Formats: sequence, C-alpha cells, structure tokens
Amino acid sequence: MSKVNQMWGGRFDLPPSELMQEINASLPYDRRLYAQDIRGSKAHAAMLAKQGILTSEEEKKIQEGLSLILKEIEDGRFDFRRELEDIHMAVEARLKELIGDAGGKLHTARSRNDQVAVDMKLFVREECEKAVALLKDLRRVLKKRAQENVETIMPGFTHLQVAQPISFGFYLHAYYEMFGRDIKRFENAFDVMGECPLGAAALAGTPYDTNRFFTAEQLGFKAPTKNALDSVSDRDFVLEYLSCASICAMHLSRLAEEMVVFSSQPFGFVKMPQEYTSGSSIMPQKCNPDAAELMRAKTGRIYGSLTTLLTVMKGLPLAYSKDMQEDKEALFDACDTLVLELKVMTAVVEGLTVRADNMRKALENGFPTATDLADWLVKKANIPFREAHHITGTIVKFAEQNGLRLMDVPLKEMQKVCPQITQDVYAVLNVESSLNARKSYGGTAPDQLRQRLSEEV
Ligand code: ARG
Repeated sequence: MSKVNQMWGGRFDLPPSELMQEINASLPYDRRLYAQDIRGSKAHAAMLAKQGILTSEEEKKIQEGLSLILKEIEDGRFDFRRELEDIHMAVEARLKELIGDAGGKLHTARSRNDQVAVDMKLFVREECEKAVALLKDLRRVLKKRAQENVETIMPGFTHLQVAQPISFGFYLHAYYEMFGRDIKRFENAFDVMGECPLGAAALAGTPYDTNRFFTAEQLGFKAPTKNALDSVSDRDFVLEYLSCASICAMHLSRLAEEMVVFSSQPFGFVKMPQEYTSGSSIMPQKCNPDAAELMRAKTGRIYGSLTTLLTVMKGLPLAYSKDMQEDKEALFDACDTLVLELKVMTAVVEGLTVRADNMRKALENGFPTATDLADWLVKKANIPFREAHHITGTIVKFAEQNGLRLMDVPLKEMQKVCPQITQDVYAVLNVESSLNARKSYGGTAPDQLRQRLSEEV
C-alpha cells in the first residue's frame, strides 16, 4: 500500500509518475500554510473529542503530536516529501508516524477540501490584519510630513499642467485619505471572511454529530459557513484580499510615480532619501529613484495575481476542482509584494527632503491664480462666471505674450479688457492669498488642513 499512496492507495495499482508529481504537488509552496493547517487540525480534534467522536486519550495524543510537528517545522527539522503532495497530507502522515493509529482518526468528519479552505482563510485574515497595521504606519508618517508642510506652497496639477496653488501638506493629506479608505476595505474584507468553512467536509456536510460552532469559535471566526457546498467551492475571500491589495497598490503606484517625477531635476520638488536611490554605472551625477520605480512596477504583480485567480475561478463547476490549488502562489506573491511596498513607501515618505524653493519657482509659470482673478470678477464686479472666465483668459494671453506673471500685468492693461477691474484685484493674484482663500471644507487653506489633520480617523 505505501508504495502507491498511503492516504488513498487502496484504489490504485500504480504510483503517480514523476511528471504528475511535478504538476500536482503543492507542498513546495503550500508548506507556508503549516501554522494555519496545524491550528485548524487542533481545533478540529478538540471538537471531535468534545462531541465524543474521539476519546480524550486519542485527542491528547493528537494534540501532542501536532505540537511536536509544529516545533519540528519551526526548527527546520521536518522532512517535506513531495510525494505527499501537500501540507495537509505531509502533516497527517507525520502525525501517524509519531502517534500511530490515533493519527488516522483526525481526518474524521472533514476532508482536504474544507481543510484547505480554512487554512487559506486563516492565512488571508492574517494578511488583512498585516496590511491594516502597515497602512496605519504609513498614514502616521504621511500625517507627520503633512503637518510640517501645511504652508509649503506648490503647484497643484491637472493634466500635469499647473492648475492652482496648493500646499505640499495638502497633497500628502490626499494620500492619507486614500490609504485610510484602503484600511477600511481590508477591515471590511476581514469581516466578510468571518465564517469558518471547516467541518463542511468534502461538499455535502457529514453524518457525524459535529459542532461547527465550537470549531469556528476556536479559530476566531464569528460563525460557521451556512452551506457546505459553498464552503469548499469559493475563493472569493482570496479575491477580495487581492482586490483590496490591487486598489492599495494602485494608490502606492501613483504616489511612487509622483516621487519619480517630483524628484527629477526639472521639477526638483523633493529629494528621495539617499538610501532608497541608486547610482549609475556610467553617469556619476545620478541618484536614481529606483525604490519608487519598483513600487510603481510591482503593481503589475499584484494585479496579475488578481487576474490569475479571477480567471482560474470563472469556469469552475461546484464544488472543488484542483484548479483551485493555483490560488496559492498568486496570493503569496501578492502578499509579500504588498508588505514590502508598504514598508518601503513608509520609509521613503519619512525620509523625503522637501524643496520648498523649487515648488515655489514652479508656480511662477502657469498662471496659477487665474481662477482667483475670475472669482474676483464674479464677486467684486458681479460678472457671470463664464464671462469672467473669458476676460481672465484674455488677460492671461496678454501676460503670456509679454512674459509677465498675472500679478505683474499693469492695471490699465487689465482695464482695457474689463473696465470694472480695480487696484484691489492684486490682493488675490499672489499665491499665498490664493491658498488662504480656499477655505471651504476640505480645501487647501492652511487652517482647513490643520483642522482636518487634527481629526482622528
Ligand atoms: N493541495 C490542495 C489545494 O491546495 C488541497 C485540496 C485537495 N483536495 C482535493 N480534493 N484534491 O487545493
């Protein structure tokens, strides 16, 4: 029997070929689930004993055996044999070696289908918590840097063209908000994946008198899943993590992109911390923003994992198919990528040097207070906004043709375009007053931003 397969050898005459083992075995990567697998088995054994399906003697042996295996794995003494296929069978086989017959009773009233589902759910829940904790670190740093830069004026862009003056603190606070929503998404995902699939068995439930509420509670879930077929069929919780991770990675990528652009010489708004840049092998002057570029690029891996699993799942009939084993490498890669990115981004934002002088210089061009001029015409001269927009456009054209900033255009030139313009228009044409004027809720005015930053969310 053992020559074929010690778990199901009874029905087989031949062992799997080498090639079959290569395509079939998940042990090389799902060994990463060992802690979740043992935790799930311990809870299951405790439940079986509580229900009188195992004797307390048998349970004790199983618990001790599993604890020993956990230690063997953690000490690097465990023999991961590929022919055992996956982590579930590797642990069970070792348990039998260690404790004999009682080991074979652990698999009563469960199957690998609910076992892998619960292992994965436990793993993904931990990754949600990890992402939340790291996002909180990143937000703490963003908030600190935003508070330091409430009055640091820079151009705000649309189409990457100078639009209106904003503060660098306001800019950072925008990302603070985005990452705040990412946290909520991961927390919500954690909550949605709050039902325990263990005990669903192969797909239809089990004839044993089990107590799935007890198992669920032992493993920190709110309740057991309500349909055994659903429990072993879906991987929507993995997809949900990957969706949250994809959105978060997209946010990280935009911030990374702006670090690349803002740290380039023509902008010079920020300097990347030197420990996160690298030099060129030929151009001695270079200090390239590699960390930011890689954060921008790694987004593709996370989207890739989401696309992989969506594609794996889309045509599968209920319940389990081996296709679902392909969820693992995609998930693990996305988790590792996201964790690394969040740590690097936190360090980069913390170490950024802010070049307020260059930010200010960039506001000299691009007529950033043109909207303020139009607003002045609306408020002070009672001109409809559309017309005010047109008048301002004409004045901007004059300024551009004469190489002037808006505040340098002589009053009589402005009056040629619109006779109602008076001397006090100049008060709104400098960038500070433009910034201070935007004090609507959520606006860039320093007082507004200070209030938003002082709120605990
Ligand atoms: N290694 C498998 C996986 O990751 C475990 C479940 C196997 N179940 C089965 N019926 N073959 O999906």
